[in-house]
Amino acid sequence: MCEFIVNPYYKALPDWMNQGNAFQNDDILKFHRSLDGYEATKVHTLDGLAKKLGLKSIYVKDESTRFGVKSFKPLGASYTIYRFLKERWEKEFKTEFSVFDFKKPLKMSELGMFTFCAATDGNHGRAVAWTARMLNQKAVIYMPKATVKSRINNIKNEGAEVVLIDGTFDDCVKRVDADARANGWIVISDTAYRGYMYYPQYIMAGYSTIFREMDNSINNQFHCKADVVILQAGVGGLAAAATWYYTKKYGKNRPKLICLEPVKADAFMESVKNGKPTESKQNFDSIMAGLNCGVSLLAWDYICEGVNYMMTVSDDYAEKAMRQYYHPIGNDPQIISGESGASGLAGLLALMENNDMAKYREEIGLNSKSSVLLINSEGDTDPDNFKKVVK
Ligand SMILES: Cc1ncc(COP(=O)(O)O)c(C=O)c1O
Repeated sequence: MCEFIVNPYYKALPDWMNQGNAFQNDDILKFHRSLDGYEATKVHTLDGLAKKLGLKSIYVKDESTRFGVKSFKPLGASYTIYRFLKERWEKEFKTEFSVFDFKKPLKMSELGMFTFCAATDGNHGRAVAWTARMLNQKAVIYMPKATVKSRINNIKNEGAEVVLIDGTFDDCVKRVDADARANGWIVISDTAYRGYMYYPQYIMAGYSTIFREMDNSINNQFHCKADVVILQAGVGGLAAAATWYYTKKYGKNRPKLICLEPVKADAFMESVKNGKPTESKQNFDSIMAGLNCGVSLLAWDYICEGVNYMMTVSDDYAEKAMRQYYHPIGNDPQIISGESGASGLAGLLALMENNDMAKYREEIGLNSKSSVLLINSEGDTDPDNFKKVVK
């Protein structure tokens, strides 16, 4: 069943708040805006569902339409590959490489051919492959053998080579790292681990675009319209980006942040219980495939001091949430949401509908006066299972 704990390491003003980091780069949104097909994703308001659950409002930032890739992940992969190319260019040619130089065929041909590689449960690898294809570069993506066919095909359809590994996402991370060293490939990993701590900062920084896009709507200058934000975590990059953004913007007045994971992949929950990054004892076989991961060492720092609560949710709630999004109440819009995408709503349903959760609702302050922001982080990235679940 679902678990909920108050984060004992929470600080109203975390130590990292005034440290320089990649989140502060002023080219992030500018870079994304320069890409073909860029459009800020929508924020939906679900008044019907809010009323049913006894809340004031529910907002959903809908990443299912991002760049036609059906998840928020291209924001991280593309920005990181841009930063990689920028560093290479500026080191070699001693002239500036701006966001507008990304994709310039002449500059790419002077830089030469690269093979970008990554481990993935689906969406990050697809995003790396999508970026490589945009640049006419190569991508090799490592995935757990048990990954459903459609997620593997999504990556092959971007022109990448897929290598299937008999193991978990974290086994893929180790294998791709070793093979990249042997082959001279460039690892674009969303998770940070010992020996690989540099590029994941740009992946997380890329995700900050999601929150910056709401600067004048949900995230008003002096007041956030959301009292609570639920952040699903795989390696923790998305949750870290949100934690940085809200802390930097509102300090101790930031909304209450909940870091949410599947019961079957509870690495952040375990880590908070242990006070340090810790492996989950679970099997990583949640249907919330994008969340079947261990802890990124870079994301950990932000999440550990920045979020208020840790929560786990079971797969049946994820399916319930997918159906809820697909069959809206009253005038609420229909939202297409995959297993990991719907996990934020899964957590909210578990909190609001479950008598055992009453004390946590009270602790958070979830009531008829509160507004909640959810991130629909993916669309139907596994269309076969999606159809089965929502029918
Ligand atoms: C759809 C979806 N949502 C959320 C996440 C979690 O993001 P992160 O791994 O940055 O914590 C992922 C990760 O792959 C994902 O694919």
